[in-house]
Amino acid sequence: MSRYILAIESSCDDTSAAVINDDFICLSNITASQKVHEIYGGVVPELASRAHQQNILPVVEVALKEAKIKKEDLSAIAFTRGPGLLGSLLVGVSFAKSMAQGLNIPIIDVNHLDAHVLAHFVKDSIEQKVPLFPYLCLLVSGGNTQIIRVNADNDMQILGKTIDDAAGETIDKAAKILSLPYPGGPHIDRLAKQGEPKLNFAKSHIGGYDYSFSGLKTSILYTLRDLLKENPKYIEENLEDIACSVQKAVVDSLLSKFEKALKDTKIKTIALAGGVSANSLLRERFQQIGEKYNCKVFIPKFSYTTDNAAMVGVCGMFKYLRGDFADISLTAYAR
Ligand code: KG4
Repeated sequence: MSRYILAIESSCDDTSAAVINDDFICLSNITASQKVHEIYGGVVPELASRAHQQNILPVVEVALKEAKIKKEDLSAIAFTRGPGLLGSLLVGVSFAKSMAQGLNIPIIDVNHLDAHVLAHFVKDSIEQKVPLFPYLCLLVSGGNTQIIRVNADNDMQILGKTIDDAAGETIDKAAKILSLPYPGGPHIDRLAKQGEPKLNFAKSHIGGYDYSFSGLKTSILYTLRDLLKENPKYIEENLEDIACSVQKAVVDSLLSKFEKALKDTKIKTIALAGGVSANSLLRERFQQIGEKYNCKVFIPKFSYTTDNAAMVGVCGMFKYLRGDFADISLTAYAR
């Protein structure tokens, strides 16, 4: 008899629910995005948790309906425990705990970053290929930039990480300077396609596999400030070239460290994860690195790059199959 897990993700500003079976096939993956933050240019935590409260029940109902699964057929409920916004996480955690108690089934806590890294195991069909361990993962989301050696689903070694800002944060900040809507990543990507990388920004050079994006962020700000002094219309007249230059600077930084780690570890499978992996230049250049080093390359479908419950579900299924359940007394953690 098949086993089914209901997964819930509510770590930031997306309320998502998914149903995953024990072949890791995603039967449904429903996400309600919150538009309420757009006018503020960033996520407002209090508004996010209130929106999660409104969204969670309909999202779960639609996920079960689309998967054609009755709640009585569920074997367990998996949920994102952290890291993320505490108020947002608490909505998902409390919902999962109470629903599981009502159904008398176990709960499974999932780390949000592990879920991004294991998103490659979400299957849409039984034939779909998944990575073999170990693989080297470049995790680039709004709040995190990490190079991870994934030895097993429960054995991940962080080889490098950002010591200050994340890549996504840097792109979003640049987009804000350009007066683009939040989140800026997709707008920078779209505009960059029509531009040339004419501007050179100063990049940070730190040793090892760690990243630093604060220098690049400052350089973007100061370079544009100086250019605006010469021509107050500089941004509106050169929007595409600026976007293209920002995108190139971030992608160059991301991939130079990743390539170094790949050369040193000699791992033959590479994977991209996190919201910024939706970026078209990053996807293209990541594929090229894979070809250069003769690696198997895994790049997630767009729907599994940003926050989604399907990735939480596969993490949950790995844990379910090991009998690794959480205690009902457990609560969310922000960091
Ligand atoms: O993984 P995610 O949802 O955030 C966290 O969980 O932290 O990723 C969101 C980030 C934002 O910074 C957004 O601007 C960026 O992913 N992003 C992109 C693109 N689509 C989303 N960045 C560059 N190019 C894109 N196409």
